Amino acid sequence: MPEALFAILRATMGFYSRHIFPRLMDWVMSSQDFQRLRTDLLQDARGEVLEIGFGTGLNLVHYPASISRLSIVDPADLLPKRVSERIATVSFPVQAKHVTAETLPYPDRRFDTVVSTWTLCTIPNPVQALREVSRVLKPEGTLLFLEHGRSDDHTTAAWQDRLNPIQNVIGCGCHLNRQIDRLITQAGLRIADLDRFLLPGVPRLAGEMYRGRATPCPA
Ligand SMILES: C[S@@+](CC[C@H](N)C(=O)[O-])C[C@H]1O[C@@H](n2cnc3c(N)ncnc32)[C@H](O)[C@@H]1O
Repeated sequence: MPEALFAILRATMGFYSRHIFPRLMDWVMSSQDFQRLRTDLLQDARGEVLEIGFGTGLNLVHYPASISRLSIVDPADLLPKRVSERIATVSFPVQAKHVTAETLPYPDRRFDTVVSTWTLCTIPNPVQALREVSRVLKPEGTLLFLEHGRSDDHTTAAWQDRLNPIQNVIGCGCHLNRQIDRLITQAGLRIADLDRFLLPGVPRLAGEMYRGRATPCPA
């Protein structure tokens, strides 16, 4: 009997992660506050750009038209029709690959800009992914990041730790309690700017934001 129960649970979670979660995520993360943050961050993208954890393509319209190309990686193929329609609206070339950020299929020093928005919370091995980001960035290149993560407030952080297993399930792998700046420096990148703030309209547990820029350390 437990096997039958596990099979039903697996099927339910499979349906949820393929059909319900992407629509929910797309709806929540396209609100005005999210859009304003995306525009502010991405105005600094330039040249050859890589975005990790592309999701449903909500960043696309916020890139400056002047970027020369956007490469995107995400192991999942979320809402493919919606993503194709969004890609069709931009004037720069877009190349998609369904691979993980932990093993990027690009040569060293290929990109001027790497972008990560609300993605380091979900990548199973974020430090390995960030090491890959450092490898594929040109020495003068920049990682632009906009992520939610661990609170500096001890009480909030304790609740983030407690509720993390539940968030893992309902957020399809999302962690509430990752200290984003520490992950970035652990991977050998240097943080040039870091802005911490609370995302309006989002519960504090998931609204503790880390926004900034990081650069590869000189070899
Ligand atoms: C919360 S969504 C954010 C989507 C998008 N970055 C945005 O700002 O709307 C997290 C994304 O990370 C992707 N992801 C999960 N594991 C990944 C990995 N190992 N490498 C790259 N992306 C991953 C998920 O498929 C999902 O699209």
